[in-house]
Amino acid sequence: MKRLLWPVLIVIVLGLAVFGLLTSPAFLDETSFLEQTGNADRGKTVFDASGCASCHAAENADEESHLILTGGKRFDSPFGTFIAPNLSSDVEMGIGGWTDYEIANAVINGVGPQKQHYFPAFPYATYNKMTLADLADLVSYLRELPASDVKNQPHEVSFPFNIRRNLGGWKFLFASDDWVMQGDLSDELIRGRYLVEALGHCGECHTPRNALGGMKRGKWLGGAAHPSGKGRIPNITPAALEWAKGDIVEYLTSGFTPEFDTAGGEMVEVVENMARLSQSDREAIAAYLLALPSVE
Ligand code: HEC
Ligand code: HEC
Repeated sequence: MKRLLWPVLIVIVLGLAVFGLLTSPAFLDETSFLEQTGNADRGKTVFDASGCASCHAAENADEESHLILTGGKRFDSPFGTFIAPNLSSDVEMGIGGWTDYEIANAVINGVGPQKQHYFPAFPYATYNKMTLADLADLVSYLRELPASDVKNQPHEVSFPFNIRRNLGGWKFLFASDDWVMQGDLSDELIRGRYLVEALGHCGECHTPRNALGGMKRGKWLGGAAHPSGKGRIPNITPAALEWAKGDIVEYLTSGFTPEFDTAGGEMVEVVENMARLSQSDREAIAAYLLALPSVE
């Protein structure tokens, strides 16, 4: 009996060690991050392109109030409902009391000040491709936004998905920092790829997911079920989106399609954010979409 028990114990201990390694949080290199000097003006572009306000502003926020990041928006998913936290500069209720390094780690590693993993409803597994310079600029900009004392609400997620430690395993499996579009790209495509694959997190909505919520990168931007279970988010690869470059740029500027329809659903806020970017950035996004492999 004893002879049998030892190998079993060893397997359990090794298993726990591997689980511990795989699920322990990763951190940004502090020295390289602190070498950056953030610029809030440039940070505004990073903030708009990344759509932070689309999730962290209050429900139905308008042009004026979208910079008050009170939190409270609800995101239904197959795993439960996530509720966006207060991201304002309030010291008590927001992130005003956090260090720059803590904010940076949350955005690109999905790890909080208590070393807890964040749920991937916060798209850090996409922001992980953000440059350190952009990250520092973004943090400087967040510091300048108004405070709001709205209290955070707990997520409505049940066992086993509410165990934050397990998210380390999710990150290990799905948080890739490789680019999807590879090869020798023009400067415009490199910028477009950065805006789509990193900041704009277009794939978080437009790419289908597996049962564990990981993006199916082989079907990149090929259209997906809406996470709430209602409706679909369109395929935006050339197989389905038969628009010219100018049509895509127009859509990202005004929301008008070539058929004189207007953008609906979550895309309304994405378009508002894209409209705040430069014309050349919208052109870069359009060029990237046109260069995508078709997903049928
Ligand atoms: C798709 C919606 C979405 C977008 C876009 C988004 N977030 Fe979040 N964010 C969330 C959710 C949901 C959480 C809560 C995660 C958790 O508790 O595990 C969160 C958590 C955070 C936290 C941790 C706050 C705390 O109190 O612990 C920070 C910091 C943060 N987000 C910053 C940002 C920044 C900066 C951006 C833009 C670059 C951004 N988020 C974009 C949904 C989003
Ligand atoms: C929060 C989810 C979400 C994100 C993020 C998102 N989209 Fe969308 N997108 C949608 C939805 C939903 C629609 C359908 C809109 C409608 O019904 O009018 C859509 C529609 C579109 C369309 C029009 C497709 C058509 O056939 O009418 C384009 C083009 C598009 N998105 C591009 C992008 C790009 C580029 C990005 C990243 C910068 C992006 N989207 C990010 C949800 C999203």
